[in-house]
Amino acid sequence: MSLTVRPVVGRRAKISALGTYVPPEVITNKDLEKLVDTNDQWIVDRTGIRERHKLAKGLGTSDMCVEAAKNCLKARGVEPDKIGEFGLECIVVGTVTPDMMFPSTACLVQDKIGAKGAWGFDVSAGCSGFVFALQAGAKLVESGAHSKVLVIGADANTRMTNYSDRATCILFGDGAGAVLLEPAEEGEIGLIDFVHEVDGSGGVSLNLKGGGSLHPTSLATLVAGMHFIYQDGQAVYKFAVRKMAETTTKLLERNGITGADLGCFIPHQANKRIITATADRLGMDPERVIINIEKYGNTSSGTIPLAMETAIEQRKLKKGDLVLLAAVGAGFTVGAALLRWEI
Ligand SMILES: CC(C)(COP(=O)(O)OP(=O)(O)OC[C@H]1O[C@@H](n2cnc3c(N)ncnc32)[C@H](O)[C@@H]1OP(=O)(O)O)[C@@H](O)C(=O)NCCC(=O)NCCS
Repeated sequence: MSLTVRPVVGRRAKISALGTYVPPEVITNKDLEKLVDTNDQWIVDRTGIRERHKLAKGLGTSDMCVEAAKNCLKARGVEPDKIGEFGLECIVVGTVTPDMMFPSTACLVQDKIGAKGAWGFDVSAGCSGFVFALQAGAKLVESGAHSKVLVIGADANTRMTNYSDRATCILFGDGAGAVLLEPAEEGEIGLIDFVHEVDGSGGVSLNLKGGGSLHPTSLATLVAGMHFIYQDGQAVYKFAVRKMAETTTKLLERNGITGADLGCFIPHQANKRIITATADRLGMDPERVIINIEKYGNTSSGTIPLAMETAIEQRKLKKGDLVLLAAVGAGFTVGAALLRWEI
């Protein structure tokens, strides 16, 4: 291995803590068989998903963010209501299923966890939300602007899912994960590099049209089902397979390493076949590819931090490991990140 650690302007940033949350209610493939013309075997074979979690009525994405944030801050001993050196300074939330159009989810989370000294904002990047937010947060730390930035990826996809459309309702679930970013210490490397892209021409293939300024909610938008996720599954699939491989290869190559140098690969969990196709292209040992899609389905911005938790539980992620993250999402958006795990 000849890892060339790319210099950053300012200081390096690292992930110093992780916390996750999934709501307790579970939707199994058998449950979906009662709603649409599908079956467990088809869903498992075509996607790898067996069950997904569902947020209870009366709660929003911000409530999952709060639970993940509390778990993360507790792991690091950070008290959200402290201001200054020991307190939280900024909250960046990757989500496309905010509680409401505005205020942002970051504002709702700031209030609910009592982070008096913090500001924050949301990042809308579909399923790449967590990796895009991670880069935004990293730059705030690297520049010296902040020393404690909470980056959250969370989505309540079941709220936007049409449970009479068998091609989409099988895929999505709800969940959240948070990481704390802090300056790296002597001898630590932390976040190394990112390759992010958008291709807005892909917006026609994956979107939610209703409720925005172009199509404000009306009886007509409701009747047309414009408040649900629309997806051309095959177009998304082809783009995801191509771009996950292209972006991750570029990221590894420009840092002088190969898949063999990675401790593990933590991809967005949209479809098991997309993950294995990408891992094959990288020459990754399947044992070091983190897959938990069977338990959670696609939680959009929640998938990568949830998979970090799985990697730790399975003892596949430990201090000093090089880790590759990658996601593709609505936009289209593409995000890949390389980091050294320092916890
Ligand atoms: C959605 C997805 C699983 C569908 O799998 P696929 O192999 O592409 O399946 P197809 O769309 O070609 O459909 C094949 C057949 O299965 C049927 N089918 C679709 N959903 C089904 C279901 N839940 N159960 C049973 N049959 C189903 C289709 O109607 C089609 O039938 P037909 O051949 O009679 O027309 C797949 O396209 C996918 O994962 N796409 C990417 C999704 C994604 O990543 N989204 C999030 C991006 S972040």
